[in-house]
Amino acid sequence: MSALRDWLRSQPSLTGTPPALDTERLPASPVTLFEEWIHQAAAAGVAEPHAATLATVDSDGVPDARTLIVKNVDDRGWAFASTRSSAKGGQLAVHPVAALAFWWQPVMRAVRVRGSVHAASADDTAADLAARSEAARRDVADGDWALWRIEATRVEFWQGSIDRRHTRVVYEREGGPFAAPSYRIDRMRA
Ligand SMILES: Cc1cc2nc3c(=O)[nH]c(=O)nc-3n(C[C@H](O)[C@H](O)[C@H](O)COP(=O)(O)O)c2cc1C
Repeated sequence: MSALRDWLRSQPSLTGTPPALDTERLPASPVTLFEEWIHQAAAAGVAEPHAATLATVDSDGVPDARTLIVKNVDDRGWAFASTRSSAKGGQLAVHPVAALAFWWQPVMRAVRVRGSVHAASADDTAADLAARSEAARRDVADGDWALWRIEATRVEFWQGSIDRRHTRVVYEREGGPFAAPSYRIDRMRA
């Protein structure tokens, strides 16, 4: 056990190279900054930059999390798809809230999104299902496919720094449009 502890502690972390980030010229919308960051992550070699960890809450209030693919991001939110009959589908039916976390190692960046979850329109859901392969579609029972969007109330963009002066840019809103982003530099030991 302590060998594992020692091994874990010997593993390097925050080994990437962050691109330049101008905190004086942040876009008004987190969707714009997200688009910029995911493209920069892909350009830096992240193989599946659209894979993220989705956290939900079950009927007992216990958190759950799994990896999935983000299907679209626009002013309506961060979209993902799965079956209604999945654990996440049941959890979202009871607690329609979620958090989504991305980590892009080569650029030392992470993005966190949290908010309420809404089912997409029947047309958008059908289009998402239609875009899946024939084999993947066959595995889904009629009416079981769902496309959801997280309508973000908070989006955090975190950029690590080799000198441990990590930058956090936060967009928040309550009902209306996002307020102007705030940022701060945290000095962390880890
Ligand atoms: C890279 C990656 C991408 C995945 N993409 C999806 C996805 O888009 N939708 C999905 O339902 N499951 C996806 N999965 C599987 C989920 O991680 C999970 O095992 C499954 O959805 C069941 O989760 P649940 O029991 O919490 O509902 C993906 C897994 C990995 C590792």
